[in-house]
Amino acid sequence: MTREAGQGTGDAGADFVVVANRLPVDLVRDADGTEQWKASPGGLVTALESILKANHGAWVGWPGVADAAPDPFDSDGIRLHSVLLSALDIELYYEGFSNATLWPLFHDVVVPPEYHREWWNAYRDVNTRFAEATAAAAAPGATIWVQDYQLLLVPRLLRELRPDLTIGFFLHIPFPPVELFMQLPWRTELVEGMLGADLVGFHLPGGADNFRILANKLSGLPSVRLRADKTKAAEIRVDDRMVRAGAFPISIDSGAVDALARTRAILDRAVRLREELGSPKVLMLGVDRLDYTKGIDVRLKALEELIGEGRLDPSEVTFLQLATPSRERVEQYQFMRSRIEERVGRINGMYGEIGQPVVTYIHRPVPKSELTAFYAAADVMLVTPVRDGMNLVAKEYVATCTDGAGALVLSEFAGAAAELRQAYLCNPHDLEGVKDAIMAAISDPVEERRRRMRALRRQVLGNDVHAWARRFFETLDATPDN
Ligand code: ADP
Ligand code: G6P
Repeated sequence: MTREAGQGTGDAGADFVVVANRLPVDLVRDADGTEQWKASPGGLVTALESILKANHGAWVGWPGVADAAPDPFDSDGIRLHSVLLSALDIELYYEGFSNATLWPLFHDVVVPPEYHREWWNAYRDVNTRFAEATAAAAAPGATIWVQDYQLLLVPRLLRELRPDLTIGFFLHIPFPPVELFMQLPWRTELVEGMLGADLVGFHLPGGADNFRILANKLSGLPSVRLRADKTKAAEIRVDDRMVRAGAFPISIDSGAVDALARTRAILDRAVRLREELGSPKVLMLGVDRLDYTKGIDVRLKALEELIGEGRLDPSEVTFLQLATPSRERVEQYQFMRSRIEERVGRINGMYGEIGQPVVTYIHRPVPKSELTAFYAAADVMLVTPVRDGMNLVAKEYVATCTDGAGALVLSEFAGAAAELRQAYLCNPHDLEGVKDAIMAAISDPVEERRRRMRALRRQVLGNDVHAWARRFFETLDATPDN
């Protein structure tokens, strides 16, 4: 990447600033009033943290609790600037507009999005506050990288405050089809907000295309497609500026994951984990935030039917589901949690034995080393979202399979499926297809499974998060007028 190392943290402002709803660490207040910082959940933080650590930039974001805004401080070489959100901001902007309007709408209306004017007003106000905090943290002529659906208005607001800045924007979730986006009462403001950036990045070319069409439909802006361009980019003319939109599939720090997975400590822990789980013949694993987009219910249904039909023997198979708590005050998340926990209980009630459940369900985050050991221990990884921007878990699993064993069952509706073509791909809406994919991943000849994993590892190790950031910034630097 082309950002200058070591220039990010002076009082004169940083030359490179990431802006995201969350800081990479969350402030956690214990019952006795003590405070500590813990790693924030989600793929955005996983990806961005390794980029910023390597570049000594600044990060503007919310510290994860109400009414907290500690002075800027350094953490792991990153200067963290907090944006204060009140309890009401969290309810209306974060839980409301971000996660009960935009999140479901952008994930193909998996649950019905809600449209409320007071949520929208709070979203606009909080976006303004993020833009102001960023303008204050940025050195003259700095490069700013705005992240994700919570901050769609920030690029434009920031450009109005600081026309000297170069602004990139990246969307970590799917960008929806035009017909769905058109449901939004505030669709024009949102598209024009994103058009404040010099470069707007998506995971897939389809997202960039939908955005280009909407810029024309809603704001009458002309555009051209740059067909020869690797990112399948388009250029959109906005007044006297040219905005580029293109596809930049995100990845993980694959080399670091691979290296960690090879350590003796992880390999030993993986062996012990299998023993603790009763040394099953087949260990299947799911790792997700507890989110209705992730299709946790799909894989549980598939497992239940496979056992019911006698295709899987419950004494030989264990399924371990790690589910990090997420957005727990949003109603749809509460409904989904009950449904999943009920099904886990039913499967264990029907098919488990004393001290030997078929499904082990852990509803809390686990440390990274422990997670890596779980990946290393698993024979089959189940990634079955009904819609997902990318899904870094799938790539983490592949990078952890250092011995070339292990099989990935992957939904066609995860962005990762565009690159991981040799996975056992399935349509999560077709339960028979999911069951067949699981059975193939378990029973295919070893050589076939290894052949697939070799191809997946080539893909993941050859395209890491650093290459992703490099491509984004090379394109940003090459955008006309920069
Ligand atoms: P999303 O960003 O929607 O949460 P991703 O799969 O892209 O989905 O990224 C999830 C990230 O969170 C991964 O880096 C994964 O390792 C991490 N993660 C998911 N579940 C857990 C868990 N139970 N404990 C610790 N980390 C987790
Ligand atoms: C996804 C989103 C991120 C978000 C993360 C965790 O990865 O793309 O923007 O930070 O989920 O969700 P949360 O609501 O806890 O920040």
